[in-house]
Amino acid sequence: MKFFIDTGMVEEIKEAAKWGIIDGVTTNPSLIAKTGRSQADVIKEICSIIDGPISAEVIATDTEGMLSEAMEIAKWHDNVVIKLPLTEEGIAACAKLSEQGVKTNVTLCFSPNQALLAAKAGATYISPFIGRLDDAGHDGMALIEEIRTIYDNFGFTTEILAASIRNSTHVRDAAIVGSDVITAPYGVLKALYKHPLTDKGLAAFLADHEKANK
Ligand code: G3P
Repeated sequence: MKFFIDTGMVEEIKEAAKWGIIDGVTTNPSLIAKTGRSQADVIKEICSIIDGPISAEVIATDTEGMLSEAMEIAKWHDNVVIKLPLTEEGIAACAKLSEQGVKTNVTLCFSPNQALLAAKAGATYISPFIGRLDDAGHDGMALIEEIRTIYDNFGFTTEILAASIRNSTHVRDAAIVGSDVITAPYGVLKALYKHPLTDKGLAAFLADHEKANK
């Protein structure tokens, strides 16, 4: 299972890179807006920190516009993955980019049929938004399970990238149901390390060592 960090903040990415477990980075226009910098600057800097897939999203809503933006973005670095919205135009752009061997991440997926369309278009990744479905009173994790079943039924190679992850339970459950990738904010990833019994156990080991070596 791959771990991506979902942020545009380079300081967070630098910190997370030290953990040695980060495989890639996802961004979206809202995350880039929070940085106050241009997408090009942020993505190029991220590519210099993490050697793995880095998703950068297009802003155009028509297929031709998406394709010309994708061509620009793809020039920034070999590791860049073009993030496209799950619309008719986005799926058409995905099919074209797949034919050309350009890596894609189809985002804003909220149903199994949308995920099926992305796989048919040869998407590299499909991003179902777990947290936003939960917020709307649906079961985000059930969607991941359904996509897993559909992709396995037909041998689709599109990787399931569980997105809009809000907590450690989302990470655990995404792993249990077989998501290929999770992308999570810095705080959620950092929380995965924490267990009160680990802290308590370590404190006791260190205290015993101290006593024995006085
Ligand atoms: O990058 C896409 C996704 O992870 C967004 O998450 O928390 O804005 O629903 P969120």
